[in-house]
Parts: sequence; structure tokens; C-alpha cells
Amino acid sequence: MRFLLGWVCMLGMMIAGETFASSRSVVEKPIVVILMGPPGAGKGTHAKPLGEQLGIPHISTGDLFRENIQNQTSLGQTAKSYINAGRLVPDAVVLDMLFARIDQPDCNQGYILDGFPRTVAQAEALDPRLKNSRVIAVNLNVPDPLLVERITGRLACKECGKLYHKKYSAPASQGQCDLCQGTLFQRDDDKEEILKKRLEVYRAQTEPLIEYYGKKDVLREINAADSPDSVFHLVLDQIAEPVARG
Ligand code: AP5
Repeated sequence: MRFLLGWVCMLGMMIAGETFASSRSVVEKPIVVILMGPPGAGKGTHAKPLGEQLGIPHISTGDLFRENIQNQTSLGQTAKSYINAGRLVPDAVVLDMLFARIDQPDCNQGYILDGFPRTVAQAEALDPRLKNSRVIAVNLNVPDPLLVERITGRLACKECGKLYHKKYSAPASQGQCDLCQGTLFQRDDDKEEILKKRLEVYRAQTEPLIEYYGKKDVLREINAADSPDSVFHLVLDQIAEPVARG
């Protein structure tokens, strides 16, 4: 019933030509969506269109690190050794970078977090900044064998960051982005042996966040093993309901 109500409200807004963003006059608080899930669950795939739909920025700590690595900053140099070993970058480094980003004015109406928080310490450090926000933590569930297939087949555009998959969402021309014709590449940390370490780290350090947000009653569990389109609609359903409730 709650599911139906959310959709009816969202549909009404769409028929009236409104996106979530333009309908947010009914919502008092900024909305913060925390996209959770293991490597390959689809956080990056859904964060961007979700941000466009909600009219708020999506912030990926992984992307911020990769930008710093590409620009050869000292932050990038520190992060690179951890990322390429499949380990987490130390909390202090992540928190400084993330807080500088969410303090930007474009985050005043809310934001989508992709890949943050990743430890209970990061979540606790974030909490005081969420006091006046409506928080939804969406956990994307995917079985391990599918994660391996998704990660080892992932390609990303060097220019615009669009994600592809060799099997599930292949580009029209091999090695080239459909949108901007940029070159597609495979991430260094997407090799199977590094992925194994990333999954171990996820289980040990990040998975406890499911219980953390469950206890706060903001957790929404999603079966993310289906096609990208159907998973995206499941995610939207979870966001639509609290937005519709205002
Ligand atoms: P990060 O870049 O965040 O990597 P990750 O969390 O391991 O997640 P991924 O980007 O690998 O997966 P995803 O869930 O976004 O999946 P995607 O949508 O791309 O972090 C990288 C590293 O940075 C970390 O290991 C760590 O070292 C460091 N770091 C980052 N944040 C940190 C933090 N807070 N603290 C400390 N360290 C941090 O999908 C994968 C593939 O599957 C794609 O090809 C996609 O097309 C395909 N796909 C997606 N959904 C579907 C579907 N439904 N059906 C079929 N294919 C699909």
C-alpha cells in the first residue's frame, strides 16, 4: 500500500510536469540519500540518474579520489596506494575531502552519497551533519558471483565517466563512449585478485553499516540483481515515498 501511494504521488508529479526537484516545495528538509552495497552493486550506475531526478548532486568518494589521482595531487598519491591494494583510504583523509564537498552551496537542498560512509567511524562523523536532513540509506543487494561478473566487465568513459558493461550494457562502438566518443577504460582495481580483497574489506568494515542504519530506521533494502532499469525503479520507489510524505 505504501509502495502504491509513493508511486501514485510520483506519477501525479510527473503528469503535472514536475520532477522531484520542482515538487520539493512540499518538503521542508534537504534529502540525503546514502547508496550502499558491495563493489559492483550498482551504486555508481544509479547515483547519477537519481541525482538528476531529484535535482541534487551525487557525490562519489571513489570518483573524487580518481580525479585526484588523475590530477596528481598529494591526496591522489596517498589514495592511490590504498585503492590499488583494494584497501580503504584512511578515515581522516576521506572525511576532510567529503566534508569540503558537501559544504559546497549546491548541496544545500541535499545530495546523494555513493561509496560513503564505508566505516562506522565515517558514519558517526557524518551524523551531526544530517541532523536537519531527511536521510534514506538504500542498500543494494547482489549475490557475489554476479558482483565479480559486473566488476570484471565494467568499462568507464575517461571523459564523462559514463559506465558500461562488456556484456550487459556494451557501447555501440567498441572502446568508445556513446555519449561523448571518449575512450573507455577498465579501472586498475577491477582486476579479479584486487576485487577479492575489496569484497573482504567490504564484509569486514562496511557491511556493519547495514545494522547501523537499520537501527536508525532509515534503511531500505533492495534486490539489485535485476536489470539496471528495474533496479532504478525500485530505488525510486524507496525515495518517492518519504518525499511524497513530505
Ligand atoms: P568506489 O569507486 O566507490 O568503488 P566501490 O564501492 O568498490 O564500488 P564500485 O564503483 O566498484 O561499484 P558500484 O556499486 O558503483 O557499481 P557500478 O554501478 O559501477 O571506491 C574505489 C576505492 O576508493 C575503494 O576500494 C577505496 O579504496 C576507496 N574509497 C572510496 N570511498 C571510500 C571511503 N568512503 N572510505 C575509504 N576508502 C574509500 O556497476 C558495476 C558494473 O556493473 C558496471 O559495469 C555496470 O554497468 C554494471 N551494472 C550495474 N548494475 C547492473 C545491473 N542491474 N545489471 C547488469 N549490470 C549492472
